[in-house]
Amino acid sequence: MFSLSFQRIFPARVLLACCLLCLNFNARAKEGMHVPATLKSKEADMRAMGLEIPVEELFNEQGTGLNNAVVLFGKGCTGEIISSKGLVLTNHHCGYGTVQGLSSIDHDYFARGFWAMNREGELPCPGLTVTFVRGMENITARVLNGIDDTLNDIARNAIISKRIQSLEKAYAYTSGLDASIRPLYTGNQYYVFLTQTYKDIRLVAFPPNGIGVFGGDAENWMWPRHTGDFSMFRVYAGAGNKPADYAKDNKPYDAKEFFTINAGGYKEGDFTMVYGFPAVTDEYVTSSQVQQVQYISDPIRIAVRTQKLGIWNASMQQSRDVFLKYTSKRAGIANGWKKWQGEVKGLQVNNVTSKKLQYEQRFQQWAVAHDSAYPYAVGMPALIEAQTISIDSILKTDEYVREAVYGIELISQATATERLMQCFRTRMSAAALQDTLTKLVKNMGGFYKNYDAPTDEKVFAGLMQTYFAACPGWLPSYYRIEYQQHGSDFAQWAHAVYNTSLFTTQERLQKFAANATVSDSLRLLSDPAWQLYHSISVMRSNHITPALTHYSERMRYLNRLYMKAQMAQRNGADLYPDANFTLRLSYGKVKGIDPDGAAPYSYQTTLNEVVALDDSTSYEFKVPQKLKDLYAKKDYGHWAVNKTVPVAFITDNHTSGGNSGSPVLNAKGQLIGTNFDRVWEGTMSDLNFDPRLCRNISLDVRYTLFIIDKFGGAGWLLKEMKIVR
Ligand code: ARG
Ligand code: GLU
Repeated sequence: MFSLSFQRIFPARVLLACCLLCLNFNARAKEGMHVPATLKSKEADMRAMGLEIPVEELFNEQGTGLNNAVVLFGKGCTGEIISSKGLVLTNHHCGYGTVQGLSSIDHDYFARGFWAMNREGELPCPGLTVTFVRGMENITARVLNGIDDTLNDIARNAIISKRIQSLEKAYAYTSGLDASIRPLYTGNQYYVFLTQTYKDIRLVAFPPNGIGVFGGDAENWMWPRHTGDFSMFRVYAGAGNKPADYAKDNKPYDAKEFFTINAGGYKEGDFTMVYGFPAVTDEYVTSSQVQQVQYISDPIRIAVRTQKLGIWNASMQQSRDVFLKYTSKRAGIANGWKKWQGEVKGLQVNNVTSKKLQYEQRFQQWAVAHDSAYPYAVGMPALIEAQTISIDSILKTDEYVREAVYGIELISQATATERLMQCFRTRMSAAALQDTLTKLVKNMGGFYKNYDAPTDEKVFAGLMQTYFAACPGWLPSYYRIEYQQHGSDFAQWAHAVYNTSLFTTQERLQKFAANATVSDSLRLLSDPAWQLYHSISVMRSNHITPALTHYSERMRYLNRLYMKAQMAQRNGADLYPDANFTLRLSYGKVKGIDPDGAAPYSYQTTLNEVVALDDSTSYEFKVPQKLKDLYAKKDYGHWAVNKTVPVAFITDNHTSGGNSGSPVLNAKGQLIGTNFDRVWEGTMSDLNFDPRLCRNISLDVRYTLFIIDKFGGAGWLLKEMKIVR
């Protein structure tokens, strides 16, 4: 159907012009997130685009490459080492959770920032880790040797996981490092990664939110951008420079490889690289899988979150208390909400499904011609399409269950019933029961501190109606009966639930806990929030989860074979593996953007624009007084360019979630910035990279240095960095 309408709209001549355009674009921007060990095959291309150093400086088998200066920061971000004494630069939003744990009313680092004035002043960060990748090796032959490609996944995995276990042990033993073996190309290749995880990490510098979150949600995923999204930590090591638990006497990690900072700037067209840990991409899926994202998952998530954000925003505007409670939660759900809107738009304007369909037709021709070597390839996209179509309605329901039903805070909070019930099952005395329950409820303080039941009641009424309308065939009896018993009126039903549920306030739950007797478990089990959660979850685990599990197992098998055939068809050329949180390098150029063809945006923003946006009545756009003072005095130290300071810039490197905090390098491999976001119009790059619309957003390292130096007054840190121009 799509291919037909595509041809009707685009006659052959236009198509040809489009193809030429695409080729032209490809010459300018480079799709791909490359495994560092494979960079040699890219070297000529990188050189042609501007690279000035041998790729061996980025990664080499002797283990002395710049990969040693790129770290997995915590569990989901990237960071870079910028001094021989283990200084790590990453994003503000990557350090945020850690800093929340270190903050209190007396030490409000979000309001005032944090600047260590010497080593002793650096703050230990319990739980935070930094992981180095010391080496990697393609060991596909050893993992897959003798296994037939078409062997079913259960049998295949049984063999593979045994091999992986013993290989990991052997690699760890011989290297003295941690070894983890990971699949690439959907299980068609395996690499061993040799890593070291440091556990004594200390906070060094953290600008206040007025800089680090400036522009907030309004500017999130947007260009032009003005967020000073950085923070700084230091890695500490034990004896022999090795990882060790926190100890006061640990020494700063002695880094042999770290990034030289280039404060000389860049201009449009300059070569750039991003080195980091992108999390997930799906570049090789079929048209039907893209459609699933574009027409089912993304739209459902966007619609439900639009509804929920509408209710939250209204409450937040009415009450400062609700605002403070919900601002961080709102940022969390708005992040995906905004990204998916960009993704859907990008998939639409790019006709990605149509392009994929065309590609699949060419694939099919190839498959027929290579039938003897790849018999499973013939008809593969159609086979995958049949699978996706068969799961569409289940998938749709699951999206609604997760977003609309579990999206109601009271409903997800009621899952605590399971934990509370454990106490009743262990047959303790009434006193012990009350004591244990009370402690459990006390631990829920984090949730209730940021919870407003009246707001959530409105969310319940709204989202339950949405679920009702969208999934009429998936209403458990409990749902139907309750709805009818409350006058078939969602607001009435919501009111009754919030009036009676134990989970509506911590006090109510606390009172229950303090007076509970063994027979009170029934009161818990009959709680309306729990009942509703339970009835939906039972339905889900009986009828949805098994189908989804079966589907994803089947798809893993088909996608692996489809990937294998695509690799053969394209001779492996230009096929980079999908992101999976392993270390990657992407290359591209500094480049402005013109998303709607109206007027191009420059590739850079400046401090002048930050100050022009200042709005003391707005939480997101309030510039700290001290920054305004520096601006008024033009007190920019070494960091002035054209009488201002550059703030952020865009390049067309291929990045994804997880690349937050990644070093952005120039042609010499020197640090010019820190990646922190993408432009929302181009977020479909997780499925399809479009050089016209895909841009990653980075913080200019000169803004970072200016803020540390002039705003934070922590100039002592600059002395240990190697800064060139
Ligand atoms: N969009 C960026 C990312 O995906 C930054 C998110 C944090 N900032 C925010 N305003 N919510 O992680
Ligand atoms: N902010 C994202 C992160 O935390 C990076 C943005 C993106 O998805 O490219 O990794």
